Order: sequence, then C-alpha cells, then structure tokens
Amino acid sequence: MSLKIMDHPLIKHKMTILRKKETSSMEFRQITTEIATLMGYEVTRDLELRDIDIETPLEKTVGQEISGKKISIVPILRAGIGMVDGLLTIVPSARVGHIGMYRDPETLKPVTYYCKLPKDIENRLVILLDPMLATGGTLVEAIDELKAKGATKIKSLNLLAAPEGIKAVQEKHPDVDIYVCEVDRCLNEHGYILPGLGDAGDRLFG
Ligand code: PRP
Repeated sequence: MSLKIMDHPLIKHKMTILRKKETSSMEFRQITTEIATLMGYEVTRDLELRDIDIETPLEKTVGQEISGKKISIVPILRAGIGMVDGLLTIVPSARVGHIGMYRDPETLKPVTYYCKLPKDIENRLVILLDPMLATGGTLVEAIDELKAKGATKIKSLNLLAAPEGIKAVQEKHPDVDIYVCEVDRCLNEHGYILPGLGDAGDRLFG
C-alpha cells in the first residue's frame, strides 16, 4: 500500500480555509469540491493508456486513450458526498456507489446502514471518498464491505487523517492506496482529529 500526502500550495491554502471555524457551510462545500477535484487529478495519475490511431485535420498520428479498469466513485455517507462532484468533474462517466455509515459516538465503532454499489464493482477501480480518517474504523469497515462485494482495486481519498487511522488501515488493508491532503497530530478523547476541522458532515450539511 502507499500513503500519498498531497503537497501542493493550492491544497494547503484551501485546507486552511476549511479548518477555520468561521468558514460557512457554503464555502466549506465549495472548497471541499475544489480539493476533491485536485485530489482526483492525482489519484488518476497512474491510469493505464493505450495507443490509438487518429487523424488530425492535417495528418494521421497516434493518440492515447484511457484503457484498463473503469472507475467507480464511492462516497461514505454522509460527509463523503461532499467530495463526489469534484471527482465527477474530471471523470464524468464514473459510476457512483454509496456506503452509509456513522460512527457511534460512545463506542466510536462504525455502524453500516446502507450499501449500494455498481453491479460490476469487481471490474472497476474503486475510489472511496470520506473527508475524515480518524480512528480508521469507518474506512476499514467500508473496505471490508467493498471487498466482500468483489472489489479488488481500491484507493481512498481523505482530506484529513490522524496517524492512528492511517496505521489501522495500513494494518488491515495493506493493498489499499491512501491519498490525504494533510496528516494531523492526534485524536482527542471523543475521536476527533486535532487540530482538525471539526465534524466534516456537520460543516458540509449543517
Ligand atoms: C465521520 C467521518 C468519517 C468517520 C471517521 O463520520 O466523516 O466517516 O467519522 O471516523 P473513524 O475514522 O474514527 O471511523 P460521521 O460518523 O460523523 O458520520 P457523517 O459523515 O454522517 O457525519
């Protein structure tokens, strides 16, 4: 597995706006979409290409088109929904699955309440979306669910991660590539990332 930390001035700037407590829901949604688009650029960097013969208005030449696995985007509800439009901006033909999970506030264990995935998920590169990777329980469970349904190639996009969450996913699912914008210091006693940005679902949707 690989851990890719996005290292780009635009992302750092936009993440700082997300972290600020005075940022409105409207701005938070807009900027989450923008960051997701930038992450989408990076997560699609190693898509396979094949050569194709084409003709420009002037002569024949060889171009390239995406080949290999098709893409499925899977947000983890609720907060993952905030990243969907950003990904669809650059891969508009991707199928979109949904996994509904919430973290029990007492036990911090994930509870799955919904799962609807494209029928041919086993043939697709799955890009899993969730702004926050805290204890890692949610992401580990979502990957369990995807693998149980046949997914073989999975990448996870998270805006913010705690070291604990990265470790948990690396231990349980070493084959999954994780892309994060920034890794924060630690979790507090309620499982919130510090310094973090608060509760992404609440900040996106109120
Ligand atoms: C938050 C977040 C992740 C999860 C991360 O969701 O969006 O899905 O917690 O925590 P973990 O890594 O410790 O499992 P939440 O339970 O608040 O649900 P929501 O997206 O519906 O607000």
